[in-house]
Amino acid sequence: MPDDTRLLVGRTALITGAGHGIGAATARLFAQHGATVLVTDVDTEAAHLVVKEITDRGGSAEAHDLDVRDAGRVDAVVGEVLARHRVDVLVNNAGHWVRIPRDFADSRPDDWEALYRVNLWHVFALTHAFLPAMIDRGSGVIVNVASIEGLRGYPVDPVYGAFKAGLVQFTRSLGVQVAPKGVRVNAIGPDVTNTAQSDFARFDPPEWAERWPSWVPAGRVGTPEEQAGVILFLASDLASFVVGHTIPTDGGTGAAGGWYPSTKRPGRSWTNRPMDA
Ligand SMILES: NC(=O)c1ccc[n+]([C@@H]2O[C@H](COP(=O)([O-])OP(=O)(O)OC[C@H]3O[C@@H](n4cnc5c(N)ncnc54)[C@H](O)[C@@H]3O)[C@@H](O)[C@H]2O)c1
Repeated sequence: MPDDTRLLVGRTALITGAGHGIGAATARLFAQHGATVLVTDVDTEAAHLVVKEITDRGGSAEAHDLDVRDAGRVDAVVGEVLARHRVDVLVNNAGHWVRIPRDFADSRPDDWEALYRVNLWHVFALTHAFLPAMIDRGSGVIVNVASIEGLRGYPVDPVYGAFKAGLVQFTRSLGVQVAPKGVRVNAIGPDVTNTAQSDFARFDPPEWAERWPSWVPAGRVGTPEEQAGVILFLASDLASFVVGHTIPTDGGTGAAGGWYPSTKRPGRSWTNRPMDA
């Protein structure tokens, strides 16, 4: 057993949307595992706070102001980073469901464009910027944060669902394309994880909180730290033979596929019928 069991010692990782939620938890965990973390976010203050937390604990990190929708900022940050760092790990985490307050039939092209910019365009742009150096070195890892909504139908917003599904397919296709060159591309597909954009305590009436056991097989919502753990696994050499996959990180909602834990009916533990579970 080696003395140092940290998984990312000597590696540099750039994470988008790392000021809050899953991205911030990933930044903290990567730093604990010895990585230098480039914390990027449109919320610059939050990015600096995450960097301060990491450096106060003796870790290595720096903040970058990056709105991933802005091609000019993407170019500028890529230039700054490549001048000073070798990026071993890229985590394309930024994304948002940007609620469109209407059904698809009533949506507009600018709604689709907004969802595209924040969920998919930047994944192409940042991957395209950092991939060539990874290919030249013959090593590198890309982890995309997709969604369970890219793996099942998402009636709330078919356009968001389409872009997250696009991310799943990009991960699969690029993963196969670059695996022979030593670069690994994978993704996670989160669901029901308590973060700023999925703040269930704020969105839902208090009585809903106790119903999670009859809704999610794991019996509760997930935490950003649980998502970060799977991102760390995919970023590390532990996942050296994992290529092109999206791992659902959803407490079992995807696998359940319409089956719900039934907590109130004696003798029946699951239902796919509209009973009061
Ligand atoms: N929380 C969930 O249940 C859930 C489910 C499915 C998918 N996801 C995905 O997880 C990823 C992270 O989301 P989260 O749940 O941690 O949310 P979050 O709101 O806590 O974090 C999102 C982060 O992205 C940043 N951000 C937003 N717009 C940005 C932009 N234009 N440029 C740069 N940064 C920007 C925010 O400032 C924030 O720091 C997203 O891609 C999201 O689609 C989350």
